Amino acid sequence: MNFELKSLDLAAAAALPCDALIVLVPTGFKPGKDALSALVAQALKAGDLESKPGKLLPLYRPAQAKCARALLVGAGDGSARQVRQAVTAAVGALRAGMPGVKKLALCFATPPGSGAVRAAVTAVADASYVYTTTKSKPEGRTIARVVVGLPQASASKAEFTQAVATVAGIEMAKEWANRPGNHATPTLLAQAARSLSRLPLISCQVLGPRDVEKLGMGSFMAVARGSEQPLRFIVLQYNGAAKAQAPTVLVGKGISFDSGGISMKPAAEMDEMKFDMAGAASVLGVFRALGELKPALNVVGLIPSCENMPDGRAVKPGDVVTSMSGQTIEILNTDAEGRLILCDALTYAERFKPRAVVDVATLTGACMVALGSVRSGLFASTDELANQLMAAGEAAQDLCWRLPLDEDYADGLKTNFADVANVGGRAGGAITAAKFLQRFAGKYPWAHLDIAGSAWKSGAAKGATGRPVGLLLDFLLTSHAAKPTVAKTRQRSRAA
Ligand code: BES
Ligand code: MN
Ligand code: ZN
Repeated sequence: MNFELKSLDLAAAAALPCDALIVLVPTGFKPGKDALSALVAQALKAGDLESKPGKLLPLYRPAQAKCARALLVGAGDGSARQVRQAVTAAVGALRAGMPGVKKLALCFATPPGSGAVRAAVTAVADASYVYTTTKSKPEGRTIARVVVGLPQASASKAEFTQAVATVAGIEMAKEWANRPGNHATPTLLAQAARSLSRLPLISCQVLGPRDVEKLGMGSFMAVARGSEQPLRFIVLQYNGAAKAQAPTVLVGKGISFDSGGISMKPAAEMDEMKFDMAGAASVLGVFRALGELKPALNVVGLIPSCENMPDGRAVKPGDVVTSMSGQTIEILNTDAEGRLILCDALTYAERFKPRAVVDVATLTGACMVALGSVRSGLFASTDELANQLMAAGEAAQDLCWRLPLDEDYADGLKTNFADVANVGGRAGGAITAAKFLQRFAGKYPWAHLDIAGSAWKSGAAKGATGRPVGLLLDFLLTSHAAKPTVAKTRQRSRAA
């Protein structure tokens, strides 16, 4: 999809030839002297249009404009959230009732509030996205061009550029997360990562079973044992700043299918465990966007990837393995595999002397129970990192919520047979999982995003959401914009 930003008031928007024109009308709309403004004002006065977000008034070949169809849409208070609701409703209506729209114009009737342009761009993309890769007669999205019009385009240029790159990142994440397990094996994921090194400033290294064994990643290897598919450990690097600038490391859980292993999952909805590499997909998506935006910062992406399968060689409940950190782990439940592959990646991350490490994982059903699909679970070892990630989530409309890390939550992980067990009891499952990870992340400021509830939708709209690409990208761009000196960053990691 091709986006273009233009300075347009409603008079100019009306003169634009297009298949459909969406006009976003917030409360307090003041009409200009042009015919389209007058029409909007009339519709509001008559009660045929309301400024409530998502209220629609469709028009066919209105005399006041050059477009074939127009959709007047209430945009509420004009905030990012309400604009997203409005655009989602409008594009949904286009998809349902007006097929064949190729060129779309999306216009703000009044100057947009902060974040509203980004919300509009990401919402158009999201609402028009179609997965096609494994269909024999693919029918992709029809909308090919979107002109985003607002009274003063120059004020929103930077926000627009970030939004367009975010869309590219989200769509890459959706594509890979949506692919079935047999079309997104660890080997194929590694190839996707490798192809990202064609973008500017990005390099990629892929490790296989022998390399991982040499590194001593006994925990990661234990999960991969049950599968015929060889594991991959993907190392992506984006170098947009001087070498001396400590990187932020993103770690994505890349379980390409989670059957549960010997502690096998029930059959119902097991297919959805193809999405268990959504964290990995989001890291790929972030790099896709970084390659487009080319910001002055350094980022490392680490993706441990394998299948979790039952087999004669598979790891068994009660087995004890030695992680790269040297800590021994009693695997009481082979379905708690995400933390087993992440812990070795967290140890590997130490070599980059990172300013911060953020891991992203579809880690626990418990997190889904706690927060549903609205907010991802956030855990952090420092308040600063937590606040930055929370703020990034708000700005990108990709929300998260902080959960606690009290030491008492680690009690359930105690065992007589190893340094730590991989599961506690059922209660507080998202937190005990985070407590497990925290044992391996002591050498740098660390945060963990549990995206079990937010990474995909179930039911008729089953599909990946591309979250938390928007959050992560905003976090990277804004937390570096604050530009702490390298020396300060080092100090902070030592203190943590
Ligand atoms: N990938 C799952 C978590 C998951 C389950 C995400 C359902 C989204 C929907 C993870 O590997 C897992 O199986 N976790 C177990 C942990 C338990 C055995 C302690 C869970 O949540 O049931
Ligand atoms: Mn599992
Ligand atoms: Zn899993």
